[in-house]
Amino acid sequence: MSEKVLVTRKLPEKAMKLLHSECYLTVNPYDRPMTRQELERAIEPVCGLLPLLTDTIDSTLIDKAPKLRVIANYAVGYNNIDLDYCSKKNIRVSNTPGVLTEATADLTWSLMMALARRVVEGDLYIRQGKFKAWSPSLLLGQDIYQKKLGIIGFGRIGAAVAKRARGFNMTVLYCNRNRLSSYTENKMGISYRSLDQLLQQADYVTLHVPLNEHTHHLIGSEELRKMKETAYLINTSRGSVIDEKALVQALQDRVIAGAALDVYENEPELTPGLAELSQTILTPHIASATVQTRTEMAMVAVKNLLAGLKGEVMPNLVNKDLLGL
Ligand code: DGY
Repeated sequence: MSEKVLVTRKLPEKAMKLLHSECYLTVNPYDRPMTRQELERAIEPVCGLLPLLTDTIDSTLIDKAPKLRVIANYAVGYNNIDLDYCSKKNIRVSNTPGVLTEATADLTWSLMMALARRVVEGDLYIRQGKFKAWSPSLLLGQDIYQKKLGIIGFGRIGAAVAKRARGFNMTVLYCNRNRLSSYTENKMGISYRSLDQLLQQADYVTLHVPLNEHTHHLIGSEELRKMKETAYLINTSRGSVIDEKALVQALQDRVIAGAALDVYENEPELTPGLAELSQTILTPHIASATVQTRTEMAMVAVKNLLAGLKGEVMPNLVNKDLLGL
């Protein structure tokens, strides 16, 4: 098979090798996302596309690629792709579920712990030469052990976050579109709450929903006001799940104690005021950023792409309902 394929950013070596051996490849040569103009030009002759979450694959772009049959997104989230339009055009789309679950849960916990124990503030304090002596009141944080963790969105990643909470003897509350069976709830040691109840009761609220029309601005000023003044908010899902402007206001007004964000509403731009707040930790969308995970993600994306181009079943097809398969 030597179909024309566009890869919008260089992937880990193992995946690039496999692609090179199977396809006629065009790869973005730069260490930055492709510009819209570059994308529009490069997509024209290809049958397969392997984009990143930073590439907006909308109907205008798709219309520039009359031969396009397969899109294998290098991410579990696929809100960057107009899925309905792809289905209309009979273009199959896949994502990379499963392989980034543990890495994302790990970063969620890293952020939660760093936030509660003021690790980033402490690091800065030392580097600025302010540490003169141990003090009874220096950088006091909050316990995590035995506190209440509220998980919004209980898919693979939400469940992996919950599993880690067992070691901290936490009470785990969850809120999900579909409630789990009482057998699963008991087995996992988790309790179902409505969104309002969860916001009111949790000491740590963490978001693990996909971004869609139901979850856009799921957390706005009203929801933030329902949270405890001492509570923390963690987001490793998608930025637009939070109304970032409302969050900045809530943090400035001390409505909640702090927030740790890995994703942003207008990534990579930050809402004015966010970076100035001391009670926030900000990381640059790195939840899946481990050598092992990124390699696995790339292999999953490539395998989906090749299967799709060969007319085989794509293991992680996301528009199967729409295609009636
Ligand atoms: C995803 O896969 O959707 C993450 O946001 C990046 O790994």
